[in-house]
Amino acid sequence: MRQPQPVRDESLPSQVTIYEVGPRDGLQNEQTVVPLDTKAEFIRRLVAAGLPIVEATSFVHPKWVPQLADAAELIDLVDHEGPVPMPVLVPNERGLDRALEKGVKHIAIFGSATETFARRNLNRALDEQFAMFEPTVRRAREAGLDVRAYVSMCFGDPWEGEVPVDQVVTVGKRLFDLGASQLSLGDTIGVGTAHQVTALLHAFDAAGLAKESLAVHFHDTYGQALSNAYAALQAGITTFDASAGGLGGCPYAESATGNLATEDLVWLLHGLGVRTGVDLTALVGTSAWMAEQLGRPSPSRVVAALAGA
Ligand code: HMG
Ligand code: MG
Repeated sequence: MRQPQPVRDESLPSQVTIYEVGPRDGLQNEQTVVPLDTKAEFIRRLVAAGLPIVEATSFVHPKWVPQLADAAELIDLVDHEGPVPMPVLVPNERGLDRALEKGVKHIAIFGSATETFARRNLNRALDEQFAMFEPTVRRAREAGLDVRAYVSMCFGDPWEGEVPVDQVVTVGKRLFDLGASQLSLGDTIGVGTAHQVTALLHAFDAAGLAKESLAVHFHDTYGQALSNAYAALQAGITTFDASAGGLGGCPYAESATGNLATEDLVWLLHGLGVRTGVDLTALVGTSAWMAEQLGRPSPSRVVAALAGA
């Protein structure tokens, strides 16, 4: 299969981690519920394609996200204690209990930088979300779990419009300081642009959050995800969230579409001579297979160009 021609830029990190969110962010927004075995096979194929971390599912309220109501059964079907970490989303202590019952070792809490999205996604006011997360993270850490924190609506909110950088940094730091090992900055509705990314990353740097502790999570609604990822790479970020085939979106965020496609990101990174450990051929094969299961073509440009090639 065709590969990009690597031309190394020595100013960039030589290796990065791709945090695969397809099985969770990708499938949570599907119109129909994907069969359990298909989800498990998707995760196994992603691992086989070399993704170093694969977010598997969510222990949220099953009525809020029916597509992932089978989280406990799915965990039983995948090698979540193997060498590739498989984090799950956990919003509260009830979700943590369900995850602990299954022996899950990596969780992710997900906060909002805006009031409206906190209410819509978590049924909590902005300030109340911390009271929900605090005991969840404390107990998770006591049980030896690794905790990632997401902050959503970092670059714009469909109800509130522009989101002040200070607000994003304050909420993000507060979530991280609960005891997370990483903070992932979400462009939930894909409106951000490259220099906005640079400015936000500088603001976190100025607030004392090391870039090694940050990840970026771009949705591609306005076609900016790849250039935003490049801006983050130039700013020294080394963890990038992406979704195989560009699946995804948040059911509680108006106009949220798919995540940055993992294949598009891998094409860029390998072209820049940045190592990812991902086998692009196997990954494209996985997304082409998943597109067949979902009954529609992948939105990824790289998958479209290479599938069947
Ligand atoms: P709530 O209704 O306020 O919950 O929902 P509650 O605490 O009042 O509890 C009500 C009932 O729900 C209780 O049962 C609980 O036990 C039960 P009852 O006593 O009435 O029988 N319950 C649960 N059951 C199973 N699992 C649970 C759970 N929690 C409570 N975890 C809640 C609050 C947070 C649960 C709800 O709002 C929720 O599940 N929200 C999740 C929404 C979601 O998953 N959104 C998508 C993920 S976020 C995203 O995509 C953005 C991201 O990709 C980054 C980006 O792009 O920016 C991460
Ligand atoms: Mg997302």
